[in-house]
Amino acid sequence: MIGADPTTAFGIYVHWPFCLSKCPYCDFNSHVRHAPIDEERFVRAFKREIETTAARARGREVSSIFFGGGTPSLMRPQTVGAILDAIGKYWGVADDVEVTLEANPTSVEATRFRGYRAAGVNRVSLGVQALDDSSLKALGRLHTAHEALEAVAIARSVFDRYSFDLIYARPGQTPAMWTEELRQAISEAAEHLSLYQLTIEEGTPFFDLHAAGKLRTPDEAIARALYDVTQDVCTRHGLPAYEISNHALPGAECRHNLLYWRGQEYAGIGPGAHGRLDIDGIRHAVATEKRPEAWLMRVEAIGNGIVADDLLNSEERADEFLLMGLRLREGIDPQRYAALSGRPLDPRRIAILRDEGAITISTEGRLRVTQDGFPLLDAVVADLAA
Ligand SMILES: C[S@@+](CC[C@H](N)C(=O)[O-])C[C@H]1O[C@@H](n2cnc3c(N)ncnc32)[C@H](O)[C@@H]1O
Ligand code: SF4
Repeated sequence: MIGADPTTAFGIYVHWPFCLSKCPYCDFNSHVRHAPIDEERFVRAFKREIETTAARARGREVSSIFFGGGTPSLMRPQTVGAILDAIGKYWGVADDVEVTLEANPTSVEATRFRGYRAAGVNRVSLGVQALDDSSLKALGRLHTAHEALEAVAIARSVFDRYSFDLIYARPGQTPAMWTEELRQAISEAAEHLSLYQLTIEEGTPFFDLHAAGKLRTPDEAIARALYDVTQDVCTRHGLPAYEISNHALPGAECRHNLLYWRGQEYAGIGPGAHGRLDIDGIRHAVATEKRPEAWLMRVEAIGNGIVADDLLNSEERADEFLLMGLRLREGIDPQRYAALSGRPLDPRRIAILRDEGAITISTEGRLRVTQDGFPLLDAVVADLAA
């Protein structure tokens, strides 16, 4: 197993829901506002929601904190510091806590990196997305490749740990082009890269363009070749995948994201944040109001922005464990699945998937999806969970 001790990991996700502009492919909970954001008011609401969430999940030690978005690098460093102070006031925090902040790689945002470090951030994840300007323009990004690489260089000089994201399987991208781009990315990366295949999400401008035949994404065979290039180039350069889209030097995995995939506990703070909390032995799936101003008013009125607090039954809990855990190269412990669901995985289905080369069983008995099986992950999970 990699990363933090899975028995004690507890994470906090903090969502900052604003961006300077909306990228045409993105369906995350992100909003553009033309009037200035009242950060003081948001800070008060974040503190309040941290206090009420901690009252429901006492006694944990926080092993990771993740500021995601939206664009958290639009927050003032004082805002980040105030949120971290509030977390430290209501929970114990591990000495080696990992504190990640997602940043957009513009020159303005990079000027805040030192302030974030002083506030307690010790890892940044930059949304570089592509290393050529025409692709960045097509993705609706506000930065150039040069500006993004300058932000990466500043991140490298300020933080011990940084990562950046690229999106591949973009319109017109060939395996040869991607191989070159990936090589350049690896030369700029230190310990971690997130490489996401472009997905066309309903409700986005890309979805409409795609439906109208005006945006052509690579067909299945090219998408598969791009995936294979990703695995081959990264593995050869010492950055193997530890999850479908995430690559790291051994030991440099993002501890916070690992806890999602391992089915551990985390609290979600801020508009549209999700959490998984174990309260009186029952797992709760918690979600907050997505609209930033409605979330603010809810927190101001009742102390939290919760709009869904579902108790997961054993089958739902086990299915989630399978769905998330099989994304990881380390796979899952089938005995843990059996303990959660009350029944073991079907040995006949395991045997068939194994014969097909989609899964393997390790010497320690862990069930893992193979490199060939990863592109078919949804079908593998559906088959095992049936
Ligand atoms: C929600 S964004 C937040 C980071 C930051 N706002 C940014 O854009 O740089 C997290 C990452 O999700 C990825 N992403 C968002 N939408 C995607 C899509 N439709 N397909 C593939 N990757 C996507 C991008 O790589 C992005 O960096
Ligand atoms: S990709 Fe990032 S910057 Fe673009 S809209 Fe989504 S969250 Fe905002």
